Amino acid sequence: MKDTLMSDPVFLEMREIAQRLDEANLAYHRDDTPIISDAEYDALKARLLDLEALHPELKDTDSPTGKVGAPVAAGFGKITHKIPMLSLGNAFVEGDVARFVAQVRAVSRDAMITAEPKIDGLSLALRYENGALVSAATRGDGAVGEDVTANARTIGDIPQQLTGAPSVLEVRGEVFMSHVDFEALNARAAKNGTKTFANPRNAAAGSMRQLDARITAERKLSFFAYAWGDMSEHLGATQSESIARLGELGFRVNPLMRLTLSSGEVGKSLVTQLVDYHQEVAHARAELGYDIDGIVYKVDDIATQIALGFRSTTPRWAVAHKFAAERAWTRLEAIEIQVGRTGVLSPVARLTPVTVGGVVVSNATLHNHDYIAGRDSAGNPIRGGNDLRVGDRVEIYRAGDVIPKVGGVDLSARPKTAFPFAFPSSCPECASPIVRDGSSQRCTGGLACPAQGKERLKHLVSRDAFDIDGFGDTMVDTFWSDDALPLRQPVDIFTLPARDEELARNEAPGSNRSLATRAGWGPSSANKLVLGIEAARSVPLDRMIFGLGIRHIGSTTASLVARTFIDWDSFLAAAIAVAEGSAPQAARFRAIDGIGDAVIGALRETFMPGPERNAIEALADELDIQSISAPSTADSSVAGLTVVFTGTLIQMTRSEAKKQAEDLGAKVAGSVSKNTDILIAGPGAGSKADKAAALGVKVIDEAAWLEMIA
Ligand code: IVH
Repeated sequence: MKDTLMSDPVFLEMREIAQRLDEANLAYHRDDTPIISDAEYDALKARLLDLEALHPELKDTDSPTGKVGAPVAAGFGKITHKIPMLSLGNAFVEGDVARFVAQVRAVSRDAMITAEPKIDGLSLALRYENGALVSAATRGDGAVGEDVTANARTIGDIPQQLTGAPSVLEVRGEVFMSHVDFEALNARAAKNGTKTFANPRNAAAGSMRQLDARITAERKLSFFAYAWGDMSEHLGATQSESIARLGELGFRVNPLMRLTLSSGEVGKSLVTQLVDYHQEVAHARAELGYDIDGIVYKVDDIATQIALGFRSTTPRWAVAHKFAAERAWTRLEAIEIQVGRTGVLSPVARLTPVTVGGVVVSNATLHNHDYIAGRDSAGNPIRGGNDLRVGDRVEIYRAGDVIPKVGGVDLSARPKTAFPFAFPSSCPECASPIVRDGSSQRCTGGLACPAQGKERLKHLVSRDAFDIDGFGDTMVDTFWSDDALPLRQPVDIFTLPARDEELARNEAPGSNRSLATRAGWGPSSANKLVLGIEAARSVPLDRMIFGLGIRHIGSTTASLVARTFIDWDSFLAAAIAVAEGSAPQAARFRAIDGIGDAVIGALRETFMPGPERNAIEALADELDIQSISAPSTADSSVAGLTVVFTGTLIQMTRSEAKKQAEDLGAKVAGSVSKNTDILIAGPGAGSKADKAAALGVKVIDEAAWLEMIA
């Protein structure tokens, strides 16, 4: 029997998965140092469950699919849970949610379901007797946990004394560390040269497992109550009532918890309501201020929960709908160098496509030369100092909505033939010499470099610049290499209609070079393009300045510059004076928020006599540049103040807020400095709020701001 088993590939796979899961469990639960990603863990467990269902005869009685957590660590007392602390089954796709709902409705036709974030921390059971907190235990293996009472008493969200509670009450919930507290802890650790934590969950778990409660007390931990264990009487007839009762007793409960409505009432099925909520919270995830890894759905009615009951380690009345993995491993197929608008060389990783956070990723940024070599801009090692090579197995991650990044490299999988990446020493597009500029490498070709020229045109027509209707990146690509109507510098866009007309007038029949006669174009497309270009001739000064694509002048700085100089001629004269070395004119620029040596240097480069300045002057000749009208600030309470927006705004978009403030005569700056009068901080405000606090700058929320300008 044994011999046959040992050669059975299914058995061997099951045994291997079980071993990996056991190792991963110990690393995660006992040592707080995960060795595989949550997604990889879930995938392995799902595979093992499938195999066990197909081949029950091969299932190990000690299989990790029948266990939760890991045995308790030495050093803590043990607490046996009166009612086991279980885990939750997982749902990954809508079909899994539909199956859960169907199972529930088979027992109760009109069951309602609560939905709430799944907190990525560690679960804790708090026992209260006659209102007093008597013990706190971790989950441990689900049956026996660690006695962390002394540590729990240091957590502000955990009441020591309850009034009006059942005589025995065990409250369960999650201990976690907020992003702000996590960053502060790591910053302190880095300063003191002690161990930093990889993520808030590890930090929370590590802090709870301190044998010295004074150390726990120094780490700010938080706690959400979401369930209960042993108790002398029920808290309520439903999940939502019971949670509300916990809130009344003084526990922090998650404000995002929702209860489904009857389908008739909202015109949406239960599954749709749940999936919509999942999506809504997934979008807000980055702004919550703490880590969550999914949504937990629970049957609301407690009697129905009891009727549904449990599987071996998970309830049938609840399920965790996980978020898609935000990390994944794949192969680095090639490293390509892109030359940007300002000449900066950006290496891009071409990857074997892989799903990360629900999106297929095939490219990731590699930042610069040092990043590939395994160093940050200060020369410190990143990824353990390991370089990246074509052929490597790399870990990709996405944080929020940003461009995917390479997190790690698996040296054990490096092909023998992989060699260190040779960063080019001249521009791959125009062969001009490359100079080092801070942490990046830059092509010195300027407008002579085709890549820079093309990117500048794309910038000029972009939404925050000239915003030419019907003229986007593809048009630039199309006309760049067009024989009849070439587009090489900004002014060519505005001479295009006249050049096209000329072409049409002199065209030999059948040559089809003018737009209206081209294949795929026709008179109406041609006319639309011309109308878009004509409309864009009249351009506000701030968009013009931004559209020039001068290094370090983004749209915020461009609009501050425009407000300072009011009209194009004054701006141009001042910029040329700066290039000629005029100190007073440079001082006028420097007085503008956000302008320092970098911008002054860029102005010099752009406006010294030469092709760049010629191109700008030629463009300006084709345009009608609108001066900035002085804002009507007669009865504005914010005229002359410098304000900064940070975090998420709810009532309006960032650009609407900015325009409104500027219309009222306020200056909107991009960063907080001692010149800032007010910081308007929405949810998720980060370092700017800290800086404002440090500088004593007034900080208000969006509502207070709206009231102020009303
Ligand atoms: S309810 C019977 N609600 O997720 C299980 N658990 O993977 C009752 N968790 O052990 C648990 N947030 O540590 C529940 N809102 C939430 C949760 C939550 C996080 C954790 C908890 C549990 C694990 C299961």
